[in-house]
Amino acid sequence: MNYTRMSNEELIREKQALQNSYNEILGAKLSLDMSRGKPEKLQLDLSKEMLTVIDGNEACFSENGTDCRNYGIVDGIGEAKKLFGDILGVSPDNVIVGGNSSLNLMFDHLSRCMLFGVPGGNGPWCKNSKNKFLCPVPGYDRHFAVCETLGIEMINVPMTQNGPDMDIVEELVKDPDVRGIWCVPKFSNPDGTVYSDDTVRRFAKLEPASPDFIIMWDNAYCIHEIYEEEHPLLNIIDECAKAGNPDRAYVFTSTSKVTFPGAGVAAVASSVSNIKNILNVMKFQTIGHDKLNMLRHIKYFGNADGMRAYMKKHAEIMRPKFDMVLDTLSANLNDSGIATWSNPRGGYFVSLDVLEGCAKRTAKLCADAGVVLTGAGATFPYGIDPRDTNIRIAPSFASLADLETAMKVLCICAKLAAVEKLIKE
Ligand SMILES: Cc1ncc(COP(=O)(O)O)c(C=O)c1O
Repeated sequence: MNYTRMSNEELIREKQALQNSYNEILGAKLSLDMSRGKPEKLQLDLSKEMLTVIDGNEACFSENGTDCRNYGIVDGIGEAKKLFGDILGVSPDNVIVGGNSSLNLMFDHLSRCMLFGVPGGNGPWCKNSKNKFLCPVPGYDRHFAVCETLGIEMINVPMTQNGPDMDIVEELVKDPDVRGIWCVPKFSNPDGTVYSDDTVRRFAKLEPASPDFIIMWDNAYCIHEIYEEEHPLLNIIDECAKAGNPDRAYVFTSTSKVTFPGAGVAAVASSVSNIKNILNVMKFQTIGHDKLNMLRHIKYFGNADGMRAYMKKHAEIMRPKFDMVLDTLSANLNDSGIATWSNPRGGYFVSLDVLEGCAKRTAKLCADAGVVLTGAGATFPYGIDPRDTNIRIAPSFASLADLETAMKVLCICAKLAAVEKLIKE
């Protein structure tokens, strides 16, 4: 049933039917939360044994004999640097292992840029009259919040099936105020896109007007396949080096969605010279991050292959949820003419585009019915979705049964909002 081809009378009849279904939902007094990409308890329970792998004084030492209970080693213990290096395809020398949050490392990095500038650049960004950052949209709201907090102006860049629209990126970097870009290159948040080889190479070869230009490559979902097939991503650090721009990319990741979001381990990787520069400041921020937690992760996983293999357990839990979301969208909105959605093969989100001008109304109808979604607009800088169309679905936290209910409610609300708009038109 294509809503966009219905007559006004048909729309009015359909609206009444949808309103009846919606009233029934209101009566059910639901309370369901699909707002954030948090693992559910079952996923957290998967790594409970990691909490007991350090079972005595002798177990607190790293391979080279460092007592991990004590101060020191700002860049992380060697075996943790190797683990993250292997995951990201770089040498341990290219890695700093930090605390529990990669977002924290990203915030710190842009703060350093503001205060001190980047090597080879034009000095502290805070002295510039303007700093701009490119933001592929839809994207991750917390990236945008970092820029907003630091006073960095954001410019939307549309996403394509292969990553950000590189024709537009290549144009925009001619502006000397553009200092960088956010990228979530694998299973992007929210649409699950994996950047193509061509996109990665074009990033490495970009010719920005600003010598400060950096790429914030947030590889949060680098090993988060949900289905069987692998999704290799070209190595941005290698490609930048090949293109003669070895210091351009900063790569971030963490085990937030491998072990515990509240108690995982995060890392940043870049050229050796960038790593040295980061450490020159970081060594005054901390005498060392939590090395016992690094050790716990090493003892639990053994190595990168151990961690990759373990991700299959998460996939087993996530797959039925993604299937449920995608099947419910297809069953209810296929051929409706009022919605399109992504088909992610990994990561944490599904991106739904409802009829233009209807995302806020859809989210409001859902909220009134007790189903909380990520706020409409959140996937765009400043919370402004210019077409008011995008809704991020986060299937992980809810149980399968709750997810089924929430998705049915979402589909009814998306249709009701669309019909209301079409009748007005
Ligand atoms: C793209 C992306 N980056 C970073 C994070 C947060 O990472 P961390 O927990 O390591 O700070 C998230 C969490 O949802 C995310 O989606």
